[in-house]
Amino acid sequence: MKVLGRGANVLVSDDGFDGVVTRLDHPSFRKVTRRDTRLEVGAGVDLIPLARRCSARGLSGLECMAGIPATVGGAVRMNAGGRFGEFSDVVRRVEVLGPDGRREFWAADRCGFGYRRSNIDGHLVLSAELELAEDDPARVRRKFEEFFELKRASQPLADQSAGCIFKNPNGHSAGALIDQAGLKGTTCGEARVSERHANFIVARRGAKASDVMRLIDLIRERVRALFSTELEVEIDIWKPVGVRERGG
Ligand code: EPU
Repeated sequence: MKVLGRGANVLVSDDGFDGVVTRLDHPSFRKVTRRDTRLEVGAGVDLIPLARRCSARGLSGLECMAGIPATVGGAVRMNAGGRFGEFSDVVRRVEVLGPDGRREFWAADRCGFGYRRSNIDGHLVLSAELELAEDDPARVRRKFEEFFELKRASQPLADQSAGCIFKNPNGHSAGALIDQAGLKGTTCGEARVSERHANFIVARRGAKASDVMRLIDLIRERVRALFSTELEVEIDIWKPVGVRERGG
């Protein structure tokens, strides 16, 4: 079974996925409860509006989520983030549903948060408890808008994409390496390496997952040949069970 958030980090194979795909759209998964600086947020809550609302109320901690089109559940599972911070910075505990149907609360240190990862695979995120900090609303809002602006200027946010395709390899920027390899603008079918940020593959109408996969392979080969660096795929690739894993 897979849970689809806002699809920010997902590429679905042209052959589809042969399991159950769930969306936590029910209002019970979209609740936000506030106690002082602590928020209890449902896994189906959209991150950008949540971050914007928190900024407007002078609750600081989610500004770095500007421009990340995820749900709270997806952000927890992938430990969404970037240069300005990551989701685990504010997560206190997570409510999960196990494969045996049992509901549990995991403290943040049990979640195995790392760079774009957690160990919550196999469990369904139901909600998260966040600890934010009170600050001047004008300052928090300014920071949120500033981060959003920086992202708009450096990333193809208006195009269709699955976010950054590769993880940054130790000490390097995947985008910078792909750029230096001269791959910006390279196309396969209707998929193209973004000219704005080379770690994004943007898809035009009619693009196939196989176009994106071919570009991924091409980028990895070129970067390996030029810089002896192995790029690891960051996105989640959904395919029918039994089809061999490619990429990362
Ligand atoms: N750069 C280039 N060419 C490019 C892209 C980047 O030369 O095409 C250079 C930039 O000029 C800069 C350096 O590479 O000197 C780093 O670029 P940037 O600041 O855009 O950050 P990044 O490391 O590429 C990371 C996260 C993003 C996150 C941004 C900003 C990863 C793989 N990427 O990007 O996260 O939004 O920082 O916070 O961790 C994502 O995970 O989906 C994602 C987009």
